Amino acid sequence: PDNILAQPVGTTLERYIMRKQSEFAFATGELSQLLRDIALAGKIINREVNRAGLSELKGAFGTENIQGEQQQKLDVVANIRFIRALKNGGQACAVLSEEEDEIIQTGNNQGKYVVAMDPLDGSANIDVNVPIGTIFSIYRRVSPVGTPATREDFLQGGRKQVAAGYVLYGSSTMLVYTTGHGVVGFTYEHSLGEFFLSHPELRIPQDGKIFSCNEGHWFDYPEFVRTYLMECKRKGYNGRYVGSLVADYHRSLLMGGIYMYPPTEKKPQGKLRLLYECYPLAFIIEQAGGAAVAGADNTAVLDIVPTDCHQRSPLFIGSSHMVEKIVAGATEKA
Ligand code: AHG
Ligand code: MN
Ligand code: MN
Ligand code: MN
Repeated sequence: PDNILAQPVGTTLERYIMRKQSEFAFATGELSQLLRDIALAGKIINREVNRAGLSELKGAFGTENIQGEQQQKLDVVANIRFIRALKNGGQACAVLSEEEDEIIQTGNNQGKYVVAMDPLDGSANIDVNVPIGTIFSIYRRVSPVGTPATREDFLQGGRKQVAAGYVLYGSSTMLVYTTGHGVVGFTYEHSLGEFFLSHPELRIPQDGKIFSCNEGHWFDYPEFVRTYLMECKRKGYNGRYVGSLVADYHRSLLMGGIYMYPPTEKKPQGKLRLLYECYPLAFIIEQAGGAAVAGADNTAVLDIVPTDCHQRSPLFIGSSHMVEKIVAGATEKA
């Protein structure tokens, strides 16, 4: 069309949050401010990600995190930047991060919220310029305001999340989040330094023709997963796996599809972390009309009772019909 340049950029994240805050009587403004602080952290990390190739930010940092993974320099930088933004913001009293053993007290004991996060998701993809992301999950604290946060604040369970989202540093940078009233997406306009509303109501198609998993683990996958994958292939579905959870998930959300990180014998809980990878993405997918289960027994990811801040969980997430199908196949066999 000849008018593509005439498109207005539209609603900024700032304006959108302000509008929503007045729509929902419960909003005191603190959660809104926290979302703004997270958006700012996303912009800062975006800047680091964009210039990583020209700065000294590529490669390994030389340390191992509590997950037993080699930390990349950008893992460490994103972690510091994110925590700093939340400390300065004042709304979060504590942060749980993939990159930190213990929960981090921000010093803002008056803050009513805690944030669990994966500061940089897909860090194996940094050096090869493949999309990466940041994932966050927010709870209202259960410990008394005015005191330091506790582990219990983070171990409330997925259904207690008050908001969750991710930033995808892709061909465009996007912020996608939910506060339990559907899912919205914003696209970053670099020259203006603003996120603009681009996806006012994200709904995942009920069905899809894309499956996404690391097929290198084929021989370690449970039987029901292999059966389902063979069926996908017989139907000529497309296989797509970037290897950054956020990117693979975002594609599934927009186009329909299923993402899976199944359990294996060696890793019965899979690889992904419940509190800052599975829960937030499960919250978003349910809000978008999709489904997320942890395995053949059809347990909803959001219903898993957490016991440890860094625990892992298998993940089958995406279009509801596809998730139903893989689970149905598993129970037929049994
Ligand atoms: P992170 O970079 O935050 O540690 O997460 C890595 C995760 C996730 O992004 C991705 O989907 C998955 O690891 C890939 O694992 P495999 O290499 O085993 O497929
Ligand atoms: Mn990691
Ligand atoms: Mn991750
Ligand atoms: Mn990470």
